[in-house]
Amino acid sequence: MTSIGIHDLSVATAHYVVDLTELAEAAGVPPQKYLTGLGQEAMSFPAPDEDIVTMGAAAALPILERHGTERIRTVLFATESGIDQSKAAGVFVHKLLGLPSGVRVVELKQACYSGTAALQMAAGIVARDPREQVLLIMSDVARYQLDTPGEPTQGAAAAAMLVSADPALLELEPTTGIHTADVNDFWRPNDSTTAMVDGGLSLRAYLASLMGAWDDFHARGGAGFHTIERFVYHQPFTKMAQKAHARLSQHTSHAVSPNALKGSLDYNRLLGNSYTASLYVGLAAMLDNSDDLAGRRVGLFSYGSGSVGEFFTGIVQPDYAQHRRREATLAALEARRPLDIEGYRALHSAHTESSQDRETPRVTSGPFRFSGIQGQARQYEAN
Ligand code: HMG
Repeated sequence: MTSIGIHDLSVATAHYVVDLTELAEAAGVPPQKYLTGLGQEAMSFPAPDEDIVTMGAAAALPILERHGTERIRTVLFATESGIDQSKAAGVFVHKLLGLPSGVRVVELKQACYSGTAALQMAAGIVARDPREQVLLIMSDVARYQLDTPGEPTQGAAAAAMLVSADPALLELEPTTGIHTADVNDFWRPNDSTTAMVDGGLSLRAYLASLMGAWDDFHARGGAGFHTIERFVYHQPFTKMAQKAHARLSQHTSHAVSPNALKGSLDYNRLLGNSYTASLYVGLAAMLDNSDDLAGRRVGLFSYGSGSVGEFFTGIVQPDYAQHRRREATLAALEARRPLDIEGYRALHSAHTESSQDRETPRVTSGPFRFSGIQGQARQYEAN
């Protein structure tokens, strides 16, 4: 059987970074609550001329530069911070990247989970015709209201991946465990620029989904817990991954291994929640920060509020270390400009999803920018 999985994986983020110690001090909260209690040091924040399209295209560009476009027949764009009710954000990306017309493009939504749905669909497309590759983009801006408990768990980032036969990074194993339940833990109504959330319920729903997905995985003959070397979890904040792994270890009657999450929290701790991208930013961090993973099995848990969870596994490929993008991701994190709390609050309050015509100020130093709205239609350009 053809092996199918992640051939390349690239991460991009936003122009600004907000320091969570400064945010805590401004809110009159002990900084350790954010640093230790949530496990977050900083959060990326977009400039006015950035959004999910500019971040998604920036993440995908290096993949096309490395592999070309000849085999790509599908672009799947997963997001829960969509910028139009009808047109897929990926169509803008298709133009920015100069992709040929013989490429289908579609957007997928189910909170933070839809990137994983897209990955499973991509694997199906490649299984049908292994000559084809799928470009998958996960891009989100996590926005909660100012002065709410969710505020320190905001963030912004995109992950792009190429799904193909004979992958260079991670071969997907076919067994997956799924858990869907209708829960009002987190959602964003059409007339709101920020998410609604019941924080306590969201933590319980995440953990219930993990146990349900694991039990389904186990019942369907998935790999034993003890054969899984490393785990990567959806990370709304990095402490959540630690809570999740402790709970799963207890559920399967295993001790918590100190190395199980090694490296996987390093980028999310600095980016904040990137919703659909979060799990795959975690995977990139894990691959980037460990040199001894060749041939090892990794378990991944994807959670999207509302809710759908999926547990699946993959085998790290022998030459993965030559195909990862550690320097580029560290450079993207390093390139962010610090935003003070006054500036952050002003930008947060000014954010609008209005379709009124306007030009956006030229701020981002990323490869693409959102230049404004003309005739009520969004406009993008190379920077
Ligand atoms: P909160 O009420 O501000 O925080 O909300 P808390 O009082 O629960 O404290 C948080 C932690 O800090 C606790 O740790 C405290 O003990 C600790 P725990 O006991 O739970 O391990 N703490 C301190 N630690 C050190 N020094 C101190 C200190 N003080 C307290 N001085 C909450 C936290 C996460 C609920 C809030 O930020 C929130 O609502 N966030 C948004 C929702 C969220 O992220 N939910 C996660 C699960 S749902 C999910 O993952 C899906 C999602 O990504 C969206 C999607 O799928 O689309 C969100």
